[in-house]
Amino acid sequence: LKSLLPEFEGKVKCIYIDPPYNTGNEGWVYNDAVNDPKIKRWLGQVVGKEGDDLSRHDKWLCMMYPRLKLLHRLLHPEGVLFVSIDDDEAHTLRLVLDEIFGRHGRLATFVWRTDGNFDNQAKIKNCHEYIYMYSKSPDAFPYPSVVDPATPADSKLFRPVIRNTVVKNGTKNPPSKITLPIGFPADFEAGTIARRTDKWPHFLNAAKVAGGHLTNEVTIKSGWSSLDMLQAFISNGFKPLLDRKQQETVFRLMPSGAIESVKTRKPSHVITVLTGQGSTQAASVDLAEHGITFSYPKPRSLVRYLISMIDDEECIVLDSFAGSGTTAHAVLDLNLQEGERRRFILIEMESYASSLTSERVKAAISGDVDTSDRPALGGGFDYYTVGEPIFLPDENLNEAVGTDAIRAYVAYSEGIPSDDQTTAENPHSPYLLGLNRETAWIFHYEPERATRLDMEFLSGLRFGADTGARKPGTVIIYADRCLLSAAFMAKHGIIFKKIPRDITRF
Ligand SMILES: C[S@@+](CC[C@H](N)C(=O)[O-])C[C@H]1O[C@@H](n2cnc3c(N)ncnc32)[C@H](O)[C@@H]1O
Repeated sequence: LKSLLPEFEGKVKCIYIDPPYNTGNEGWVYNDAVNDPKIKRWLGQVVGKEGDDLSRHDKWLCMMYPRLKLLHRLLHPEGVLFVSIDDDEAHTLRLVLDEIFGRHGRLATFVWRTDGNFDNQAKIKNCHEYIYMYSKSPDAFPYPSVVDPATPADSKLFRPVIRNTVVKNGTKNPPSKITLPIGFPADFEAGTIARRTDKWPHFLNAAKVAGGHLTNEVTIKSGWSSLDMLQAFISNGFKPLLDRKQQETVFRLMPSGAIESVKTRKPSHVITVLTGQGSTQAASVDLAEHGITFSYPKPRSLVRYLISMIDDEECIVLDSFAGSGTTAHAVLDLNLQEGERRRFILIEMESYASSLTSERVKAAISGDVDTSDRPALGGGFDYYTVGEPIFLPDENLNEAVGTDAIRAYVAYSEGIPSDDQTTAENPHSPYLLGLNRETAWIFHYEPERATRLDMEFLSGLRFGADTGARKPGTVIIYADRCLLSAAFMAKHGIIFKKIPRDITRF
């Protein structure tokens, strides 16, 4: 996850994870950092002696917490995180998610009613799991353009246009007058509605309609729902408006004298109980039929539905507990069926990342030529293994990763915008890392000798007339040692940073 930060921090719109549930039966490998001296010190100070023997739940949280923190950093400001979990850790996970996202960050707690056979010996048979849905900015999350898959096909939710009268009388809507100007649209070609005060709405003068529009100004009185929108529609010259759900809305005068709102529906109906999405048992059987053995894979349709709630057809979908690769399969499926271009990033720590996860995704891409039930979904992916860490346990640079990787890391940690980053082939200095009007970043590093920031090095930097460049106000220079005085550096806007490495060997 850390190695994704330089490229993907704040860019991932959708994260789905299905971590080990900590049921007590799994062999999940908890974070080694539990035994890290720093964590031990923290436990000693904060938790006390009992912290030496972490309980199962503490260990699970120690594994989850840093990962959730990193996922939070990777998440786009308007992105959404989904986490599958069951009863064993739902309560602890929720506290941690509330802490990281804030309580207001929870958009929903879904209950997934798993299908399948519950003919087991349990006194109370468990047939549901949870999916938490969190966002950094839940208010900005739009009405998802999806309808709960269990909705019957003849539901009125699927009607393309929805009409409702806005004549509503009651204590909440006291009567008020509205003047409909000439040209207000009617739902009938021609006719007259007589002056009346015996039924709502009252017509204080007669209304005449010709060619589908009012031909005279008319004042009517009633209680109204959507009064603000109706007034905006009138002052707007009868152009369609968007309601709270982003549905186009217009108003029409009916032959009965009522006013109706006519909305072009953008169907959106997500409910918190998810049914009819299969089961992990069935998903496992399905994979087995295609030669893949994996316990408790999530049904593809479930993950697909969750992902489709994110209204961005080109978004990145991340799953850092990839398992059998269901999330990638769901993304590819959605792309083919809906003509979308979503991309996925999967992370799996077990060695089956290559033999199982990656193989399943490849099989989904190429399809099965022998059977028609598995069409080729198309698409593609790159496969990476995590390289050497940049830092050694003593917090010095791991120079074995090579100069390019170290330069890339320093550029990232300095926050140099990618457009301002330079390669070693630039006119100023082979050590230049990045340059803009305000700042130059210089990484004076040689793998086989200690480097110095001194007058000689400075005189070799080219910001002068020969390159046409102006010296930026601040020059940040990394080197092993600095021989310049503090006063000189302050005067010339130079900041020295020591390269974290052991130079005693030179
Ligand atoms: C419950 S499975 C996920 C199943 C997946 N949703 C599917 O449909 O196939 C959890 C996966 O997370 C992996 N995992 C566990 N701890 C991990 C960690 N710290 N980092 C990355 N993967 C981890 C496990 O190896 C396992 O493959």
